[in-house]
Amino acid sequence: MATASANGKTIFLGEHFSVYGTRIIGFGVNKKITVEALRSPTMAVEFGKDEKVILAIEAVKRYLNIDNFSARIIASEIPIGSGLGSSAALMVALVRAISGEFGLGLDDAGISAAAYEAEKIFHGAPSGIDNTLAACGGAVIFQKTALGPAVAQAGIGAPLHLVLIDTGIEKETLKMVGIVRKFKDGNEFEFAAINAEAGGLVNAAIENLQRGNTAKLGRLMDKNQELLARIGVSHPENDRVIELARRQGALGAKLVGAGGGGFCAALMESREAGENLVAALDGKYKSF
Ligand code: MEV
Repeated sequence: MATASANGKTIFLGEHFSVYGTRIIGFGVNKKITVEALRSPTMAVEFGKDEKVILAIEAVKRYLNIDNFSARIIASEIPIGSGLGSSAALMVALVRAISGEFGLGLDDAGISAAAYEAEKIFHGAPSGIDNTLAACGGAVIFQKTALGPAVAQAGIGAPLHLVLIDTGIEKETLKMVGIVRKFKDGNEFEFAAINAEAGGLVNAAIENLQRGNTAKLGRLMDKNQELLARIGVSHPENDRVIELARRQGALGAKLVGAGGGGFCAALMESREAGENLVAALDGKYKSF
């Protein structure tokens, strides 16, 4: 029997544009899903009855060419559908546990590649950032390329005090990625210009992360939020949370991940300012 965990994630900058090959920055979040896998002649995976989850497990089985196992979730700290990468974490933990049980010796990149097969079932044509972050953690710069994922760790020059705030609106990544595709198909030139601008923000963020220039990072988050609103993925509840965070002194705030609800992130000047924001939101929104 093998047990394995995978962490959740949050996106910092560049979501959605990543699906079209623009670089994206994301962070691992220290909330985990833990899965146990066991060689067994009769396959029983106790991940619930959700049809997508069942198809995703099938995709993983096909990719690994292994089907004689049972698996169950032992512990989960990541709310489903919240934007913290629950599906990717579940599939990465599953692949990692299978790899352990069957001695496959998969490294993080191999585990991520197998989990990506499942992510395609959940999210259509995702960039691969979620499974990469679930497998590797850290501060990742990711790019979807024709040759496969390009992954690097970002340099972090100063501590970042990010508050993650749950709007309480369950989002659907597949639907939100579809909204963006529709926008792109109907507004090719406008989308190309917005996409190029988003790429510029990501490049500037990589530089300013390294320099530890937090004030500038906040402004880049705000600009990224404007672009996300223009392509139609913000939600009134995202806007409300962002406004609240700014009023409480956030250096920058934006939706993170798919949008349409889910989580927002607010960048704060200090740990204390972050704690004050969490306290101010208490009773209205869950945040950490
Ligand atoms: C989801 O965490 C991030 C999106 O950009 C989709 C993707 O890149 O696969 C919305």
